[in-house]
Amino acid sequence: MSTTEITDFKATYQQYQQKVENAIDAIMPAADTRPAVLHEAMRYSLQAGGKRIRPVLLQAAHAMFPSQLDPMPACVALECLHTYSLIHDDLPCMDDSDLRRGRPTCHKQFDEETALLAGDALLTWSLWLLAEKYQQAPATAVGLVRDLGDAAGSEKLIGGQMEDLLGERDEPTPERLDFIHRNKTGALITASLTMGIRLTDAPAETVEVMRTIGHHVGLAFQIIDDILDATADAETLGKPVGADAENNKSTYPALYGLEASRAKAHEHSEAAVSACEKLGGNNAFLIALIREMEKRVN
Ligand code: IPE
Ligand code: IPE
Ligand code: MG
Ligand code: MG
Ligand code: MG
Repeated sequence: MSTTEITDFKATYQQYQQKVENAIDAIMPAADTRPAVLHEAMRYSLQAGGKRIRPVLLQAAHAMFPSQLDPMPACVALECLHTYSLIHDDLPCMDDSDLRRGRPTCHKQFDEETALLAGDALLTWSLWLLAEKYQQAPATAVGLVRDLGDAAGSEKLIGGQMEDLLGERDEPTPERLDFIHRNKTGALITASLTMGIRLTDAPAETVEVMRTIGHHVGLAFQIIDDILDATADAETLGKPVGADAENNKSTYPALYGLEASRAKAHEHSEAAVSACEKLGGNNAFLIALIREMEKRVN
């Protein structure tokens, strides 16, 4: 990309991100809603300044084709679901992590019981939010709830988290690693893109192409997450480093080494870009986003 294109990309990313921050603040129950500690905990984790990659992907897909529907409630739902998965992922019975988004994790700041319930509440609220805010477009609402519920379920996100834990006890295999990454992370990334498309007037086949793009973007994203755990510093990353090796996780660097992992992330990223090019529409920002995601440092 030229310097002007990079500046445009960053400005657009920041605009999308800011819209998400504003929508979260406007839509979520106030922190003093009874029981206040629960709503405080939900906002604490949600408003800790994540990258907002999933809602930015949703907006990027949404911007590709004409649409009359507001993507922001779907963006908030997605970020609630994702934040719930992080709160639970950090619990002592899971990855036992003390730092998230540069702050103490939810169970450190509050306590385990509150963190568990804040996660539960974000999960259920995300699905309610879709049904509530898109009730005037019932077919779209159903599509959105199906995409998010499916991605978050026992065969996808939760299934991936389960095998991630099972994998701590065994030697990593390519087959299990692929299952874990496709499901614990890839499924929600895919849902971000398909949900964005469902809010547009794009033809139904487009959703399938988005699934392919999501598959590749999702794998690249988790491979890079693994690489950063092994190579970054905690301050830049906003979460502990070296935790995967400590917990004996099945990761790409553990199985293939760093260099081969980087090559695989690149291959997936480029496969996503070429599917995106074929899709047409207003695809420049999404293509730039996929390429920038490969270079991320946190
Ligand atoms: C972290 O997700 C968990 C993974 C699925 C790799 P992100 O890297 O998107 O975390 P935030 O939302 O920016 O904090
Ligand atoms: C988390 O994967 C995936 C989900 C939360 C569903 P990781 O355990 O690798 O995420 P980080 O590294 O803690 O963010
Ligand atoms: Mg984990
Ligand atoms: Mg973790
Ligand atoms: Mg990780």
